[in-house]
Amino acid sequence: MTDFEYPDLVIVGAGLFGLTVAQQAVEHAGARVHIIDVRDHIGGNAYSYFDPETGAEIHRYGAHLFHTSNKRVWDYVNRFTSFTNYVHRVYATHDGEVYPLPINLGTINQFFHAHYTPAEAQQLIAEQAGELAGTDPENLNDKGIQLIGRPLYEAFIKNYTGKQWQTDPAELPASIIKRLPVRFNYDNRYFKDTWEGLPADGYTKWFERMIDDPRITVELGVDFFDESQPYNKTALQAAGVPVVYTGPIDRYFDYELGDLKWRTVDFKEVRYDEGDHFGCPVMNFSDADVPYTRAIEFKNFNPERAASQNPNKTVVWEEYSRFAERGDEPYYPINTDADKTLYAQYEAKAAAEPKTVFGGRLGTYKYYDMHQVIDTALTAYESQVAPLLAK
Ligand code: FAD
Ligand code: NA
Repeated sequence: MTDFEYPDLVIVGAGLFGLTVAQQAVEHAGARVHIIDVRDHIGGNAYSYFDPETGAEIHRYGAHLFHTSNKRVWDYVNRFTSFTNYVHRVYATHDGEVYPLPINLGTINQFFHAHYTPAEAQQLIAEQAGELAGTDPENLNDKGIQLIGRPLYEAFIKNYTGKQWQTDPAELPASIIKRLPVRFNYDNRYFKDTWEGLPADGYTKWFERMIDDPRITVELGVDFFDESQPYNKTALQAAGVPVVYTGPIDRYFDYELGDLKWRTVDFKEVRYDEGDHFGCPVMNFSDADVPYTRAIEFKNFNPERAASQNPNKTVVWEEYSRFAERGDEPYYPINTDADKTLYAQYEAKAAAEPKTVFGGRLGTYKYYDMHQVIDTALTAYESQVAPLLAK
């Protein structure tokens, strides 16, 4: 293909990592950047769309809340969108009652029908956690009891975690939970970050503005591993074009050392002929009799949009969590010791690829929140991508 002119940089994946690197490459190097994505939209897992019937902004791959304490990231994202004053709060249904989460003094006093002071509640939880004091927990159940005591663990953690893993917590490794935060005051604000909010006119508008430049082109529905299209791995390597790859690292190497393991989530959409079903955006279901872990009522993320929402209808997505197979959307790295060893082997191979930069959650097998992935992309641009463009 001698007459084919490649751009200065090809980016595989139009998620936040790829979009951030593309934006930086144009701004700092005046590069011509071509982004491909196998999906039919930009934004990766943070993509959302507006539901015509209800006016809700549906987060296609699960609820996305933006929050950060990183000034560089906060300043950066505010160049492309403003944020609402949304503050994230979560509630949980257990045994026919609704409780505030994370477990706090309000949860504890409601659960024990009490009016404990912070000190009294702290003493009670310490006593209940003492049931397994001094033992080395062999599974997640014992660990949970050791952290917050049996009553609260069994009510709010046990079955929820069992549903997340589709596994009895007695069979799960204790290492899945390091700590279970309990707040001995009534603060149920979910995030502790300096800044939080939702993009004022939606996630997709934000992402479109990041790449609104004639030097950036985007092609959707294109697979990097499809050799029949020009932006494939083999052709780009032969042409010596720098590539930023944000797909799965094991896939890049054709799974030759084995598959990294992930959890995925299936969503079931339910529509109600009422304006508001839960009265909040996120309702967890802590008990085993409800098969899904939580339900998202998207309208309630954006109460400021009431005028453009249907007052008589609402849409809810129930979340069902399970182990991912090849072909499922990989969401949460499982990260067992075997996964860590395998990833280190792939990472060494990736480091030996001269003109390919691996990034993002799939390219580095890490769970990143949006603010973290933007931060790593800004750093990767400076340290890894800019030197390739200077050649
Ligand atoms: P992605 O968004 O996954 O983008 C990678 C892109 O690469 C995808 O679009 C994919 O189609 C494309 N791609 C892969 N392979 C190929 C190929 N062969 N050819 C072409 N294209 C390819 N973060 C928060 O800050 N707050 C939250 O509340 C939050 N909630 C989340 C909930 C869920 C269920 C999940 C899974 C994540 C959540 N996150 C949240 C994290 C957030 O989604 C990530 O930080 C962000 O999406 C990572 O961006 P990325 O570019 O690394 O990856
Ligand atoms: Na453009």
